[in-house]
Amino acid sequence: MTDVQGRTAFITGGGNGIGLGIARSLARAGASLALADVDTAGLARAKAELKELTDVETYELDVRDRAAFEAAADAAEAALGPVTLLFNNAGVAGGSAVNKLTYELWDWVIGINLCGVINGTQTFLPKMVERGLGGHIVNTASGAGLVPTNAGVLYTTSKFGVVGMSEALNPELAAFNIGVTVLCPGPVATDIVQRTLAASPKNGPPPTEEQKKLGAERLAEAVRYLQQGLSIDAVGEMVLKAVRDNELYIHTDPSVAAMIETRTAAILAALPD
Ligand SMILES: NC(=O)c1ccc[n+]([C@@H]2O[C@H](COP(=O)([O-])OP(=O)(O)OC[C@H]3O[C@@H](n4cnc5c(N)ncnc54)[C@H](O)[C@@H]3O)[C@@H](O)[C@H]2O)c1
Repeated sequence: MTDVQGRTAFITGGGNGIGLGIARSLARAGASLALADVDTAGLARAKAELKELTDVETYELDVRDRAAFEAAADAAEAALGPVTLLFNNAGVAGGSAVNKLTYELWDWVIGINLCGVINGTQTFLPKMVERGLGGHIVNTASGAGLVPTNAGVLYTTSKFGVVGMSEALNPELAAFNIGVTVLCPGPVATDIVQRTLAASPKNGPPPTEEQKKLGAERLAEAVRYLQQGLSIDAVGEMVLKAVRDNELYIHTDPSVAAMIETRTAAILAALPD
């Protein structure tokens, strides 16, 4: 059980969406906040809102950049005190048809969604362990980190990595009084699809009119699917509860239950006698 009151939290992707929902819940519960994001306007909006509730510092940071991560960590700790709550949350949607994959796309999605989580952990974990103040790490994966949904091979690969890493960290860090949670959301009403589209590397020949129409329809469908999902504030409260209660998994809804059962049964059935 970790009481967040008076602790300092570092949240990647804290300028928008689920990261902002987590920031709001932590601010209300009395934690100081270091928010990191590539979206400077989002960071400014978040700070303007949250500084009424708690101490907030913001850092423009691409989670793929290890040197910048170290610098942001040092600056955050100088301003707000030792970070004992870490939220590796920044991510992109990265859905791409399997025949359109390129090394550039692999590097982009794995770089942010998986290596970003590794970089955050490697930046803060040695200090957290050495200081002996306990704490908690929350890594944002997805339901697509537990079963292949229709989120695409890039996203699924990155999120399975985050789940595996979190499950392996959990028992090892218990010895240091550091809890580990992996957040596996179903649909949450954020603008991740639009933000991903704007930031994604463009590759291949320009699309035909037919491809453009298909792409626009798929995009509209994905946006509709997420917008009927949970609010970022509801997810923020779930995350706060999981930190306080030291829960390993957070599911925001039961949408992947049947797929998990099917996958588990298939894996078990494939075992030799
Ligand atoms: N929205 C959903 O339905 C959903 C479902 C499952 C998992 N997730 C995961 O939740 C996390 C947050 O997503 P969200 O829906 O809140 O999206 P979002 O786009 O609203 O927020 C993500 C934030 O991460 C930031 N970001 C992107 N690339 C970055 C980088 N290289 N370095 C630093 N910051 C970067 C963005 O600027 C943005 O502020 C992601 O890891 C996502 O995969 C979201």
